Amino acid sequence: MNSALDATEGIDIEPPSTDLARRVSSSLGVSTSPTGFHTPSWTKSGSPLRAATGGLAKHLKPFATEDIKILLLENVNVTGQGLLEAQGYQVTHLKSALPEDELIGKIRDVHVIGIRSKTKLTARVLREAKNLIVVGCFCIGTNQVDTQYAAEHGIAVFNSPFSNSRSVAELVIAEIISLARQLGDRSNELHKGTWNKVSNGCWEIRGKTLGIIGYGHIGSQLSVLAEAFGMTVIYYDAVNLMALGTAKQVPTLEALLRAADFVTCHVPELPETNNLISRKEMGDMKDGSYLINASRGSVIDIPALIDAMRSGKLAGAALDVYPAEPGGNGDYFTNELNSWAQDLRSLKNIILTPHIGGSTEEAQSAIGIEVSTALIRYVNEGTTLGAVNMPEVSLRSLTMDEPNHVRVIYIHRNIPGVLRGVNAILGNHNVDKQMTDSRGEVAYLMADISGVNVAVIKDLYQRLEGLSSRIMTRVLY
Ligand SMILES: NC(=O)c1ccc[n+]([C@@H]2O[C@H](COP(=O)([O-])OP(=O)(O)OC[C@H]3O[C@@H](n4cnc5c(N)ncnc54)[C@H](O)[C@@H]3O)[C@@H](O)[C@H]2O)c1
Repeated sequence: MNSALDATEGIDIEPPSTDLARRVSSSLGVSTSPTGFHTPSWTKSGSPLRAATGGLAKHLKPFATEDIKILLLENVNVTGQGLLEAQGYQVTHLKSALPEDELIGKIRDVHVIGIRSKTKLTARVLREAKNLIVVGCFCIGTNQVDTQYAAEHGIAVFNSPFSNSRSVAELVIAEIISLARQLGDRSNELHKGTWNKVSNGCWEIRGKTLGIIGYGHIGSQLSVLAEAFGMTVIYYDAVNLMALGTAKQVPTLEALLRAADFVTCHVPELPETNNLISRKEMGDMKDGSYLINASRGSVIDIPALIDAMRSGKLAGAALDVYPAEPGGNGDYFTNELNSWAQDLRSLKNIILTPHIGGSTEEAQSAIGIEVSTALIRYVNEGTTLGAVNMPEVSLRSLTMDEPNHVRVIYIHRNIPGVLRGVNAILGNHNVDKQMTDSRGEVAYLMADISGVNVAVIKDLYQRLEGLSSRIMTRVLY
């Protein structure tokens, strides 16, 4: 152990009485008795954080880390799991999702739950989760969680929206080359024993124009990769965005479609992007051009695409996403799922992949790190940066030079007069810093108060708990 780590040991303020610790812990629903103050958890992974002021960041917990119970479902990535275990939390890890009744049985006990896309955290399930303070969605979307109900009950929800951007961008590069060289067809033919060496209609991508619709996290990464292959990049976006490299933003979708040899979609699913590329837009595209969609299934009008491919207007297409997608792996890509599935499957030079754009080991690991880190910061420091259902509130870390400080977190209903009530309680103390923000019906207040002792902490906690606007109070020190 290095000296920096030693320096963080045992500098927390005096241990609270067991009684207080129980009460404070009960704000989190920690039902076991804390063992008293403990080594700041980040020291276990060997990297104490530096506060913005330059001091060594003090990590806050009102209870022993082993009291925090975490349930990870759906085979959450091992890297993320390891980070949580390194905190000393009690982590239970299951490979699959759970049926609702079994989930209700298990969620009652835990303070943190980590899921992927298959676990449904409905209001019915969350109502039973009396100890739960935070949900980690180790995936992109959060549709599987009733985020509104969660917010109204003080449960923050985190996800990882952009950890797989690079993976998607690389897949699209692979598709551009594969389509230009008809790789899918040649490979399928040879798998069936047919040798078909052709150069007709096969192209290099160097010097061709790539049109990117949606220049966000994925679109902009793709732009850089495509230029490295010698492509000219143009993009269309709903907002003005600075170009990377020598890419150029074009003013209209039509301008992009008329100029691009390859058109690729990277927009979110919105009413405005529903069937963004339909018959008219395909008509605007260059003859013999290619269309790629790895964004959302609603963005391309697939029956129109089938017609454009059959007529030869388009020379190829790649789809990774579909209006309806099966819930699991198997022989489900049929007309029962999408009425045109058979027609799509019969086309030449069309690459069909099962929503694997972001499915790489690197992306899963990055998601694991991002979500686990957000969970740890929320549990230990109360920071909501990146939460999808709470206002984003953060204060710079307390430092080891500030031992007798407490961080008060007061999640409350966003109604008039709350701050007056809270400040009447905090106002007799030295509030070093305070931040409040609201999101819809829910507001989040975080304040660091100095010069406190155990009796003060207890008093603050109990008085905040007594306010009628309260959703959840947490006290970290
Ligand atoms: N295939 C996969 O596995 C996979 C993985 C990750 C993300 N995605 C999807 O990829 C898409 C893009 O993701 P991202 O992370 O780059 O998103 P992002 O939010 O970073 O970027 C989206 C861009 O689209 C622009 N945009 C929005 N509406 C538009 C419109 N009507 N016309 C033009 N531009 C518009 C936005 O201004 C933004 O710049 C999303 O739909 C996401 O769900 C798919």
